[in-house]
Amino acid sequence: MDALTPEHSDKNSALGQRYGAAIPPTGPWNETIASLLQHRSVRGYKPDPVPAGTLETLIASAQSAATSSNMQWWSAIAVTDSAKKKALAEIAGGQKHIEECPLFIAWVADMTRNQRISDQEKVDFECMPWLETFMVACIDVALAAQNAVVAAESLGLSTVYIGAMRNDPVRVANLLGLPKQSFVVFGLCVGYATEKAAGEVKPRLPQGIVLHHERYDAGQKAALHQAYDAEMTKFSQRHELQAATWTQRVLNRLGPIKSMNGREKMRTALASLGFEIR
Ligand SMILES: Cc1cc2nc3c(=O)[nH]c(=O)nc-3n(C[C@H](O)[C@H](O)[C@H](O)COP(=O)(O)O)c2cc1C
Repeated sequence: MDALTPEHSDKNSALGQRYGAAIPPTGPWNETIASLLQHRSVRGYKPDPVPAGTLETLIASAQSAATSSNMQWWSAIAVTDSAKKKALAEIAGGQKHIEECPLFIAWVADMTRNQRISDQEKVDFECMPWLETFMVACIDVALAAQNAVVAAESLGLSTVYIGAMRNDPVRVANLLGLPKQSFVVFGLCVGYATEKAAGEVKPRLPQGIVLHHERYDAGQKAALHQAYDAEMTKFSQRHELQAATWTQRVLNRLGPIKSMNGREKMRTALASLGFEIR
């Protein structure tokens, strides 16, 4: 992805790409927001390495995200080794962009580090084995990684998250030498997009569906939903995607259990990685 072009920095053009016809009446605007609206996941990378120091810049950006009570519940593992990326791609159901990208970052919910403080200080951490604490760790991971994504895109790099690391969290943990009580929430491919894979902005639901005022309004949204299906049909046709409408994608993704690709066993996997989640 190139740096911002005048076309992209144009507010209406950016909003049109994101929403199609349903452009919301937005207010203030700047280059940062224009850059956010240009986000798209990229699934094809040139072999060119990222410039020296980029990883550290991305991590500094990630560490600048808010973190619950400053507990900093995450770690990141940078993977550039071809054999390792190949193995990770295999776990992810053969996602070739994992092998292609020059830099793959595994984002770890790391409860080991704080557990170590418990062990060293000989203080039982009663707050550790709870779903709430686990959720806080995963939230911290996501906020940090998204800062890295925004930073990468601002540098003209492209990314795609790889949730498919959770297809087999135990194998991923073994491959990356994770200690107990840590697990890869998702991975992130980072690199320069090939021309073919640079892609385009994917339309999102109209704001009238996602934004509520004062209280949740589950009222008549059918027309907006249909309008979004129509936008996604056009997008799908341009990209030769199988499921045309968004509704169809939701049906395919949430209907059959097989679409979880093994992730329905998450509880068991987490238990074997040393997480006790009450
Ligand atoms: C947590 C998370 C996990 C994801 N996992 C994958 C993945 O394993 N493979 C993939 O190709 N895309 C993955 N994606 C990318 C989404 O498919 C993508 O963000 C979504 O379709 C919207 O498209 P956009 O990012 O281009 O706007 C993931 C995104 C998120 C946020």
